[in-house]
Amino acid sequence: MNDVMVYFIHKKANLQLFKLFCIVISVVVFLSTFSCKQPEPNKNDIESRVNSLLSKMTLDEKIGQMSQIDPSYMTGDQIKKIVSEGKYGSFLNIFGVEKINALQKIAVEKSRLKIPLIIGRDVIHGYRTIFPIPLGMAATWNPEIVKKAFRISSVEASSQGIRWTFAPMIDITWDPRWGRVAEGCGEDPYLASALAKAMVEGIQGDKLTDPTAVAACAKHFVGYGFVEGGRDYNTTYISEPVLRNVVLKPFKAAKDAGALTFMSAFNDLNGVPTSGNEFTLRQILRKEWKYDGMVVSDWGSISEMINHGYCANEKEAALKAITAGVDMEMSGSTYVKHLKSLMDEEKVSQAMIDEAVKNILRLKFKLGLFENPYVDPQAEKEILAPEFLDHARTVARQSAVLLKNDMNTLPLSASISSVAVIGPLADAPRDQLGTWVFDGKAENSVTPLTAIKEVLGGAKVNFAAGLKYSRDKSKTGFAEAIAAAKKSQAILFFAGEEWILSGEGQSRGEINLPGVQEELIEELAKTGKPLIVVVMAGRPLAIGNVVRKSNALLYAFHGGSMAGPALADLIFGKESPSGKLPITFVKGSGQIPFYYYHNNTGRPATAKSWTPLDSIPVINSQASLGYKSFYLDYGYKPLFPFGFGLSYTTFKYSDLVLSSTEMTNKGRLTVKASVLNNGNMDADEIVQLYIRDRVGSITRPVKELKGFRRVHLKSRETVSVTFELPASALEFFNGKENVIEPGEFDIWIGPNSDEGLHSEFAIK
Ligand code: NOJ
Repeated sequence: MNDVMVYFIHKKANLQLFKLFCIVISVVVFLSTFSCKQPEPNKNDIESRVNSLLSKMTLDEKIGQMSQIDPSYMTGDQIKKIVSEGKYGSFLNIFGVEKINALQKIAVEKSRLKIPLIIGRDVIHGYRTIFPIPLGMAATWNPEIVKKAFRISSVEASSQGIRWTFAPMIDITWDPRWGRVAEGCGEDPYLASALAKAMVEGIQGDKLTDPTAVAACAKHFVGYGFVEGGRDYNTTYISEPVLRNVVLKPFKAAKDAGALTFMSAFNDLNGVPTSGNEFTLRQILRKEWKYDGMVVSDWGSISEMINHGYCANEKEAALKAITAGVDMEMSGSTYVKHLKSLMDEEKVSQAMIDEAVKNILRLKFKLGLFENPYVDPQAEKEILAPEFLDHARTVARQSAVLLKNDMNTLPLSASISSVAVIGPLADAPRDQLGTWVFDGKAENSVTPLTAIKEVLGGAKVNFAAGLKYSRDKSKTGFAEAIAAAKKSQAILFFAGEEWILSGEGQSRGEINLPGVQEELIEELAKTGKPLIVVVMAGRPLAIGNVVRKSNALLYAFHGGSMAGPALADLIFGKESPSGKLPITFVKGSGQIPFYYYHNNTGRPATAKSWTPLDSIPVINSQASLGYKSFYLDYGYKPLFPFGFGLSYTTFKYSDLVLSSTEMTNKGRLTVKASVLNNGNMDADEIVQLYIRDRVGSITRPVKELKGFRRVHLKSRETVSVTFELPASALEFFNGKENVIEPGEFDIWIGPNSDEGLHSEFAIK
């Protein structure tokens, strides 16, 4: 008995108080049992629960757990029946708290083993609060705000019963024709890895049993971003060095961040479809990385191995998928139909089935679904909360990249007397949300037009869309748009792509501005008014002509629900643009692929050696063409390099200092540089660190990003930015093994992949 109790007991007069004290304590203890989060179950507990449950399961129940279905075309009674019979362990594309709770009730009360369902959905860049498309989020180079965006998505989605999302999509791509370039983090493995980690952490939260935790799904494993010609679903051929040094990097980062699930892909990789690929799924994911999470196929990708010409029929496809290590089949029936007979024929072993089922049950236990299968209907209020929308505005603001700003055309003064707001994306609430928006609603978007009117007042805004939608070829709206421009002090043209032009199945051969937008921009330029073009698109477009015609150009991607206010903040100088390109911008489709970390050729081009097409004499076979590696028409540089982005201020880099000019292959360097904000406005700069391994046992990239930092600098402020560069960051796969090779290295700290302070060091 402690002193406090003794005191109360011996003071009779205080007996009443003591009783009250006891009651309060019991109530607190009682309530805390319910309100405190359950402790995270430990690994051994989970394994023993998995094994014990597995030992009670019939083969049918196991196959049920291995199957996921979209019940959109089923009647309510059919759905209830399959759940009570344990035929499917997971659903996708089913929503509504009541519906999901009702199905869970059947699963946990009526099915024989009471195994809860797991409900999955594509929540790619927001659930109801829509953030910029992932490529836009990547342009923020800000893992922290990206993590928070994904946390918000999970809070919203989980409140509707979704505990598994098919995100993050972390396919590296070098091809802006590919529609799914919108969904990924761009071309760079280092940036994509940092963001993959942030996304997984945001999606899953701090504690998996928390009702707002959602299982992440690293997709698409693997190589899907390398579809030939950028045509969706196409063949991929990727050398093992590129696979390991580039494509796999963000997946490894997602795995290390604890991603609970992986998704196999649609593409075939070097001749073997990735949903039946033992090398990637078994050798790399399971054996080398020791992944104990769950692998789901992509939608129908198991049976699609028949179309690939890799399997003769569904039975063989099921065999190849399970052999490769696909635990759950998404929206297909090859497992349901064929696993049993494959076992009877001893082609599939009990151990293979059990391994898959264990991976699935482990996921359900980790998420606490057995203890907490239902959705709290109260949580519904956590949708479109003002702080969520505020965050969407912050992310959209940081995702916009200023590509041109002649004579400080931007920012505009908020006291400007009039502006013309023109263009098909100026007031397109659905289009600004971008691709992969299942639950976000256009009615919750704030468009640039609305936001600009809010800043200036409606009377100062002369709006004439000029074109009804991005592909519109009719010029009937031109006259009105030109008239609006003529009576305004500046033109804000919102160009871009409709949302439907990027995303799955939405590849484009030409990546210019669709329709007659360029023609309208050209007409508007003739007015002589300052012309500001804002591009809202799902991919990096070939916008050379628009850059030439405009005075300022802001690349905003599809910015989500709050794209309008975010852009208004930048246009009127509330904040400076600070995004940087997460992907190289090419001059035209013919320049693809162009990525900054290419290897050098034997004949690298320089400014001197490029012979532009127009400068070649018409009839003169003596002309020296330079014989270097370039295009006569495009030259040898992209339109804008990776990492590029301007600001309303200017930054001056100086004093690059290395802690040493050499290190061992176990060592580390500290690398420092000073950055001065040389202008009158406070702003963020994204400081980037690149290296080049000059000579390798295989040819090495001309530059590789190895660090970045977003720093805020007040006007005239100087900060010293420090990076740690461990020798391990220089490791690469050389076709045989991972190596850190001795030799000379270049190092740069700068504002983009094309500029920077230079130094060198060696690995001894
Ligand atoms: C196919 C897509 O490739 C994948 O990314 C998505 O998660 C599934 N469909 C489910 O919608």
